[in-house]
Amino acid sequence: MNETIKYIDDNAERFVDELKDFLRIPSISADPAFSADVRRAAEYVADEARRVGLENVEIYDTPGHPIVYADWLHAPGLPTVLIYGHYDVQPVDPLNLWSSPPFEPVVRGDEIYARGSVDDKGQVHMHFKSLEAIMRTTGGFPVNVKVIIEGEEEVGSPNLEPFIAAHKELLACDAVMVSDTTMYDYEMPSLTYGLRGLAYFELHVTGAKGDLHSGMFGGAVANPINILCDLIAKMKDERGHITIPGFYDEVIDVSAEERAELARLPYDVESIKSMLDIPGTVGEEGYTDLERLWARPTLDVCGIWGGYQGDGAKTVLPSKAGAKISMRLVPNQDFEKVNELFSAFIEANKPEGARVEVVWLHGGKPAMTPVDSAPMRAALTALERAFGTRPFLIRSGGSIPVVADFEEHLRAPVVLMGFGLPDQNAHAPDEKMNLKNYHRGIKSAALFLDEYARSGS
Ligand code: BES
Ligand code: MN
Ligand code: MN
Repeated sequence: MNETIKYIDDNAERFVDELKDFLRIPSISADPAFSADVRRAAEYVADEARRVGLENVEIYDTPGHPIVYADWLHAPGLPTVLIYGHYDVQPVDPLNLWSSPPFEPVVRGDEIYARGSVDDKGQVHMHFKSLEAIMRTTGGFPVNVKVIIEGEEEVGSPNLEPFIAAHKELLACDAVMVSDTTMYDYEMPSLTYGLRGLAYFELHVTGAKGDLHSGMFGGAVANPINILCDLIAKMKDERGHITIPGFYDEVIDVSAEERAELARLPYDVESIKSMLDIPGTVGEEGYTDLERLWARPTLDVCGIWGGYQGDGAKTVLPSKAGAKISMRLVPNQDFEKVNELFSAFIEANKPEGARVEVVWLHGGKPAMTPVDSAPMRAALTALERAFGTRPFLIRSGGSIPVVADFEEHLRAPVVLMGFGLPDQNAHAPDEKMNLKNYHRGIKSAALFLDEYARSGS
């Protein structure tokens, strides 16, 4: 291991140069205009897999973007680790808010700025560089390694679950390693044991067949924007509770033990307020901020449209209005059931005089993984050795839908060992990754394989 760690130190600069090549590929999965670039990113991943000594490298086409698979299976009798990540990235707009172009990576201070730097290309790259370091210094890997890197995570992984279900043998493993989450804070390495799920809708309200003079028709003809706002307002009460009947039926409430654990984490509302420039935090009554973020479901309007948006006043009764609504779900909520409950709620509350339509966009399962498995213990030790400090066990409010699919189809625990930070602007302008954490992430990934091999499980 010492040789491997030294190799990682000695090659640190070259690793960053190579990471820049990966980050230059604009692999935006949501935008069809970039599909050739998304494929180029898949090819980059496949080439990288070959470079670091993986075998059976395969680019699997799907109805959407390709899935890259590779493995190295020469450690008979030892466990198999499946490393998952995604090479696709979020769109970049609003482009004018970036300090430097999103696909021209630059290092400023300790940070590398580019779309995908932390979510998730930078973290995928850590694993490849760790594999390279181990292969170059020891001639093999301490466990069997499989790698699956997809190109559709940011659009809900529509083709991954079917792929996993159809390739259980190919993907069979003892543990899944995912680096696509954050640490609790700087110098606070963390393993994430819970993720929220997701249910995402659009709500479309249509009134008259076209826009109308609001003086001639306002008052007797339904206004779709008013209707939309009424419906949205009815979805939550003044205590921050979601009012959709049945919504909480399957929610597993945070246990007293877990609440006590979470309360032990350092949490400073003042630093959150200054980091985000907000006057205060809000949320469901009876829960702390960490509980609200990690262990309670939410309902948020992510976008809303309708009516006149230009300068000055225009007296118009709009014909259409709409909103994008996302709900973060927690164990054991089921997004299909939530879809039914939401549609029934709209059906029961929609007023006369307009048409209201619910359009389902996508869903993702919440996930909870046991904290006392052999791979989890190996990851804790690896983080402690790489960072020189005891790691934290945290949950996260974000979603990685495939985590639940892995646990279901492969029956293997998923270790979420992420190296992002809350202030790194994932999905936003000026996305960045801390290069010290990138470097320690590479070491953590290598140490994990070594520890897990020696744990004898
Ligand atoms: N890497 C994130 C998820 C994440 C972020 C987990 C921070 C934990 C901490 C992932 O790429 C992501 O953005 N997921 C989407 C889900 C999706 C179905 C589009 C999300 O959470 O919005
Ligand atoms: Mn991600
Ligand atoms: Mn993301």
